Amino acid sequence: MIDLRSDTVTCPTPLMREAMARAEVGDDVLSEDPTVNALEERCAGIMGMEAALFVCSGTMGNQAALFAHTQRGDEVILEQNAHVGLYEAGAFAVLSGLTLHKLAGRPWGVLDPNEVRDAIAPDDVHRARSTVVCLENTHNVSSGTVITPEQTRAVAEVAHAHGLKLHIDGARIFNAATHLGVEPRALTEHADSVQFCFSKGLAAPVGSMLCGTRDFIGRARRARKLMGGGMRQAGVLAAACHVSLDVVVLRLHEDHANARLIAEELARHAGVSLDLNAIQTNIIRFSLAPEVMEGRRLAALMKERGILVDARGGQRFRLVTHNDVSASDAAAVAQAFAEILG
Ligand SMILES: Cc1ncc(COP(=O)(O)O)c(C=O)c1O
Repeated sequence: MIDLRSDTVTCPTPLMREAMARAEVGDDVLSEDPTVNALEERCAGIMGMEAALFVCSGTMGNQAALFAHTQRGDEVILEQNAHVGLYEAGAFAVLSGLTLHKLAGRPWGVLDPNEVRDAIAPDDVHRARSTVVCLENTHNVSSGTVITPEQTRAVAEVAHAHGLKLHIDGARIFNAATHLGVEPRALTEHADSVQFCFSKGLAAPVGSMLCGTRDFIGRARRARKLMGGGMRQAGVLAAACHVSLDVVVLRLHEDHANARLIAEELARHAGVSLDLNAIQTNIIRFSLAPEVMEGRRLAALMKERGILVDARGGQRFRLVTHNDVSASDAAAVAQAFAEILG
């Protein structure tokens, strides 16, 4: 099957499995796993930050960051469709006792610095303290669109001028960097923390990395333990992540080209709503007019052709390209859409 439901469906590559089998390990809760320690140091360097913490998932990375940046009762400012607010099971409230101030923002997940400034609570006992601004790069709900270094800096300046921290949910930040042709640190240099995932476009089976100052990472390490995320011989997982950084990041542009090929085919058909300008990385979002076909029927016809698409959104679809979708697979997907919708 060609599985386009998500980039989380990727399986570890043969190189990853080999590295996992050979990994030197130790007890990571005691900071004694050499493979994890090397990965943390490597990632801190890539993101231009002092320190890093290997965590189980993107959700844990974001939530450990919020926990470490805030006190109970604080408020986080973020875009209305951000993953942190919508798709992390309300963890910001349950784990850290936070409320959210959601902003409409500009298109594609970009925050308007003036809107952020207006959202920051004054020092007033009636108001929750605003302590963190969160950006998501790439922006999942907007089709994997990219926030530029300049847009990030503009938000950081407002946040910092008012004593707030800037956290980046960079689950797919390597996709953003690839699209812009910049080093990832160009996207994080104005932020106080960033979380990114190995288990999405980078194709590793498990793991995310949270980066920030040494002090912040110390607090996040405690939060990780509190959340039950202290792993022991986690070097077997970190070994696969090293392969992600050695090999998989270098091919992300292929995922982007494959997504564009499929999106361009879809955009040719009447009844398909799709903004080609928003197809910048590996995510395609489109909707299908019900008079053309029911969404479930499209998914069933694709499945008959060996292609899995997520049919949970009714007439709305998200397709994601990744390491297990080759250029010829993408051509086959485009051909299948052409046959079914043509
Ligand atoms: C933008 C974004 N942030 C965070 C996450 C959470 O990652 P995980 O599923 O590893 O918890 C996801 C997952 O899809 C995501 O798309």
